[in-house]
Amino acid sequence: MLARGLLRAILGAHLGLEPGAIRFVYGPQGKPAIADSPLRFNLSHSEDLAVCALGRDLELGVDVERLRPVPEAESIARRYFCPAECADLLAVSPSARTQAFFHCWTRKEAYVKALGGGLSVALDGFQVTLRPGEAARLVHLDGQPDHAAEWSLEDLPLASGFVGALAVPARGLTLRTWHAQNAQDCLRQLCNP
Ligand SMILES: CC(C)(COP(=O)(O)OP(=O)(O)OC[C@H]1O[C@@H](n2cnc3c(N)ncnc32)[C@H](O)[C@@H]1OP(=O)(O)O)[C@@H](O)C(=O)NCCC(=O)NCCS
Repeated sequence: MLARGLLRAILGAHLGLEPGAIRFVYGPQGKPAIADSPLRFNLSHSEDLAVCALGRDLELGVDVERLRPVPEAESIARRYFCPAECADLLAVSPSARTQAFFHCWTRKEAYVKALGGGLSVALDGFQVTLRPGEAARLVHLDGQPDHAAEWSLEDLPLASGFVGALAVPARGLTLRTWHAQNAQDCLRQLCNP
């Protein structure tokens, strides 16, 4: 509820509208968008962190997760990741595997959320990078590296203990980030940009 309230405040500040006046429409799989506006957004929250990505005339997908032990990571990877991602994950040293798992997860989810496809997207039909030190990147989409190269995939600079990614179907974009410690800080910054 807090994330949704802040989302309206952020969108209202960018559109010059009262937060309550913003009208949302929803894609076939539930992706929210602002009615009759070129401003696009996507939201993700994990525990006490929320991330809102904003852009103009471009679909965006964002995902954040708190780093936490996942005892069943290998079976989740075998079920949802593509075979090359599974192989990459198992090649990572056990001490770095949780982080690699969440990099893969958030990068895949960010791409799926940019499409707005939800559970309708075949998660093993595309590949992302996940090895430690390797830049975030879509490797192929349905076996096509050329299609993947049309996308930008960026890791987000988040508080320690979280990982997150942003996916956008365009190249050469500049990512600007803006942090607020809590809801009050967020509203204060919106009132005094
Ligand atoms: C709908 C879905 C995208 C939400 O993701 P989530 O990780 O549970 O939650 P997040 O906090 O990241 O995002 C939630 C927000 O995404 C937005 N959202 C909802 N449906 C969406 C869709 N189809 N596409 C993009 N964004 C969507 C909403 O703003 C939502 O906010 P709300 O919870 O306040 O309504 C997700 O449940 C889903 O369908 N994923 C399918 C792919 C999958 O299984 N991936 C596993 C990773 S490998």
